[in-house]
Amino acid sequence: MEATPIAPTTDAEPGLDGEGERHAEPWWKRAVFYQVYPRSFADSDGDGVGDLGGLLSHFDHLTWLGVDALWLSPFYPSPMVDFGYDISDYCDVDPLFGSLEQFDELLIEAHSRNIKVIIDWVPNHTSERHPWFVDARSSRSAIHRNWYVWRDPLADGSVPNDWVQAFDPSKPTWTFDDQTGQFYLHLFESAQPDLNWSEPAVVAAMHEVLRFWLERGVDGFRADVIHCIGKDPALPDDLPAGGGLPHCVLNDVSVTHGHIRDIRTLIDSYGGDRMIVGEVYLLSTESVATYYGNNDELHLAFNFPPLFAPWRPSDWSACIASTYAALDDRHAWPTWVLSNHDNPRHRTRYDFAASLSGETEYTTAKRSEARARAAAVLLLTLRGTPFLYQGEELGMIDAEVTGDRRVDPGGRDGCRAPLPWDGSADHGWPTVTGLEPWLPFAPDAEHRNVADLRSDPSSILSLYRALIALRHSSEALALGTFESLDLPDGALGYRRARNAESLVVLVNFTDGPVDLSEYRQGLLIGMPVAIASDGLAGTFTGTLGADQALILRS
Ligand code: GLC
Ligand code: MG
Repeated sequence: MEATPIAPTTDAEPGLDGEGERHAEPWWKRAVFYQVYPRSFADSDGDGVGDLGGLLSHFDHLTWLGVDALWLSPFYPSPMVDFGYDISDYCDVDPLFGSLEQFDELLIEAHSRNIKVIIDWVPNHTSERHPWFVDARSSRSAIHRNWYVWRDPLADGSVPNDWVQAFDPSKPTWTFDDQTGQFYLHLFESAQPDLNWSEPAVVAAMHEVLRFWLERGVDGFRADVIHCIGKDPALPDDLPAGGGLPHCVLNDVSVTHGHIRDIRTLIDSYGGDRMIVGEVYLLSTESVATYYGNNDELHLAFNFPPLFAPWRPSDWSACIASTYAALDDRHAWPTWVLSNHDNPRHRTRYDFAASLSGETEYTTAKRSEARARAAAVLLLTLRGTPFLYQGEELGMIDAEVTGDRRVDPGGRDGCRAPLPWDGSADHGWPTVTGLEPWLPFAPDAEHRNVADLRSDPSSILSLYRALIALRHSSEALALGTFESLDLPDGALGYRRARNAESLVVLVNFTDGPVDLSEYRQGLLIGMPVAIASDGLAGTFTGTLGADQALILRS
């Protein structure tokens, strides 16, 4: 079969090429983003919790790696029930993380290194300790009462509807407030009451938050569960269609789109360079696509189906095809994410120890690393903006967090382990108490750490660096067309092309070789290897090695 184009081209206006073209596309289309989870990135004061000072003193890693933009998870004042996603003051820095002055310093440092900074904006809910909610729950006539979602109990005293919580779907999204005799809504923990976006004062206040940070110079926002801010005013039951899923993955109502258009207008009023990427935690790419609007809603949206896809070529080609089909090129630019602070890391998810036959000399650890390398090639060569999660550049797996070291109500501790900076006993996290940081390290931190992998040109870290550098130097990878190749079972392949440049990407998802010598009468044989996941150099022989991914110049 011939190669099948599955994404339209984005070739810019005729006559616009080279530098002209470079300026025609917004920076976030070309950027490689890197998510910093500040608690676990680096610690500057020895309290065992990462902070802005830690980030400031480790910029060198980011520059060396070559990322273009950072997304910082929350660093605002918070009781930390949800580790910062429960905010008690949107316009300050929690002393645990540092100060506003340090944030300003950080922006200056990042910008001086040509790194953009976007910050987490959590518009759906506040902390129960936010002064707005403290006032709201003080009486039914409080000024902020209508800033949250209150409902009377049903006649039999039960909760207003059947919606269930995010981290524990056995629990309702409603908590009864004894003092005022009504339930309040919280799609997440009871300590995270939902804001009422149908109250104009809430919209105004949350817009003010955006302005506060835009005026400080941030390049944009990652908007937490943005698809949840609008609610159907009738608050209808989810069952039976919702099937017991948390309401936050089902909430998809038209009123939200109006709110997002207003947010977009506000952000665009600060000049064309600011952006917003939304966490649209809906389970179909078609639904996610609607949140780009008519190029008047989100600039980018996270797309979760690929993150949940198993490491199999059939699943991945289906995800890729449905993404490019759903995201109309004129309005929507895809994003690609393998890991974040909410899900087991992909090297943990893709683990295959259970399925390994044991007959090959190819060991579990080797394969697991090889697969993580192949995944890196995939992530950084697809058409769309890639987001890395701190630590994936080291090929990190989740930490094992047991007993009283477990701290997250959502069971997500494993992927939040501190980033190991070196192979010393404390991995660059000396604490004043001499105890471990807030979470244990991943099991292989002794070898898998920044210092050791950085000095090894054949490490996965060096591979990430090379892939990012190639993406920067290649118009085909940054903005080019995507054309899938119809390869034999076990492998996935595509061509990325732009102007005169054309690259072929081949990914082997299996632990055995895949013979591609017959593909289109040997078309691929002899093409120079630009990057190989296992460091191979030279030209393509026609056989893709076990778990190998290659980028060829064609
Ligand atoms: C988002 C965040 C997650 C948080 C939740 C509630 O999904 O990524 O960490 O717990 O929203 O704010
Ligand atoms: Mg600290």
